[in-house]
Amino acid sequence: MSDFYQVTANQALQGQIDISGAKNAVLPLMAATLLCKGVSIINNVPQLDDVATMADVLRYLGAKVSHQGSRLIINTHACHGHQAPYHLVTKMRASIYVLGPLLARLGRANVALPGGCAWGPRPIDLHLAGMQALAAKVELSHGNIHAYAGRLTGTDFTFATSSVGATVNMLLASVLASGTTRLFNAAIEPEIDNLIDQLNAMGANIFGKGSANLCIEGVDELKPVEISAIPDRIEAGTYLIAAAMSRGHVRLNQVIPEHLTALLAKLTDCGAHIECDPNGITLDARHKPLRPMSIKTGPYPQFATDLAPQWMAMCASLSGIAQITDTIYPDRFQHVDELNRLGANIRVRGNSAYIIGTGSLSGAPVKATDLRAGAALILAGIVAKGTTQVNQIYHLDRGYQDLTQKLAQLGASVQCCSSDKHSATAQLSLCG
Ligand code: UD1
Repeated sequence: MSDFYQVTANQALQGQIDISGAKNAVLPLMAATLLCKGVSIINNVPQLDDVATMADVLRYLGAKVSHQGSRLIINTHACHGHQAPYHLVTKMRASIYVLGPLLARLGRANVALPGGCAWGPRPIDLHLAGMQALAAKVELSHGNIHAYAGRLTGTDFTFATSSVGATVNMLLASVLASGTTRLFNAAIEPEIDNLIDQLNAMGANIFGKGSANLCIEGVDELKPVEISAIPDRIEAGTYLIAAAMSRGHVRLNQVIPEHLTALLAKLTDCGAHIECDPNGITLDARHKPLRPMSIKTGPYPQFATDLAPQWMAMCASLSGIAQITDTIYPDRFQHVDELNRLGANIRVRGNSAYIIGTGSLSGAPVKATDLRAGAALILAGIVAKGTTQVNQIYHLDRGYQDLTQKLAQLGASVQCCSSDKHSATAQLSLCG
């Protein structure tokens, strides 16, 4: 049996939904609980496969992890393990976030190398160089990172590239190092600020939040705290693009508009009308024709690489020409062939995709090649004529809580169906 989404052509999306907590914020917050002994609480946690995988990593290390709705309770009293095994790391790259805290608290870590991903190489050299700069000894053998240290020692470290993941690991390691660490060209994504808030509440001394230059004065120990994850700006962005391309009128609650500045500016340029208040965003695309716009992804606050596939789906469905350049992941174009199956006209040259919008798409069977690619195909299916069958939907469970329910709240028809690969007749009978 395998699941797929059946997406039926839709009228304009209308209504309002609540945005969940950010997956990309929660995973570092969970890793940070390894830095002290005791019971930590994280609120506004989405129910997603990636969160479950990180919970399994923490359990493997000896933690007790339980959920009470959107509240996650992590007890690290008996956390003595120092190994993150291949079968978990290979499921989710963010498992590498345990490297820093394990080294800082236990003086050793053994973490499987994450390897590549669907859209090409994703190096971790900056994570490893950072640990070495903090005086850890790092060896790679048999597909594993073996890292050892006495107490880590503060240092000056410059990230050659702005990296969210490497900044997370360096913060998690340096808070317990002796002396002062200064980080230059650190990532400034909102999820990093969320982590800094948690670490400072735990007793860390991190200065410079919101800037690319951070100063960390190491402390001897940290205490567990309760913290809330910020809203998921990528989930919010996905629904905003869906609303725009369907010429809809949608309000998102529980979102921080400033986290979406680049997207909101582009949507406005396309012709959508957007109103923001402190707790929400309303998008109205009913009255003006929408035109495609070119984008270039970059580190925050530039356009997020995680929203580029959805943006491509929108441009492909409109009339006109647009260029999408991904400066973060130049090979992140696996969804192009699938969108072309839906009638799009997209060509890739280097790290850019050129979209010749035809003004209409037509439903077909396609497959999600990764999480955001899957989201792009669902969005395309919502505006495509006829029915679109999106396969390999397990990717979407990694990052979109209650996807079908939220889309249904906005009037979209996206049904999760089960099919027996060998029985075509069974396919539709299990839709629901
Ligand atoms: C990136 C995105 C993040 C997104 C995630 C999954 C950015 C800045 N980050 O985070 O928003 O949620 O993908 O789609 O947009 N790099 C190295 N060496 C390293 C680490 C990274 O060269 O050790 C490079 C990467 O190849 C990439 C850039 O740095 O070109 C940014 O990577 P990084 O932010 O670490 O990636 P993620 O944390 O996966």
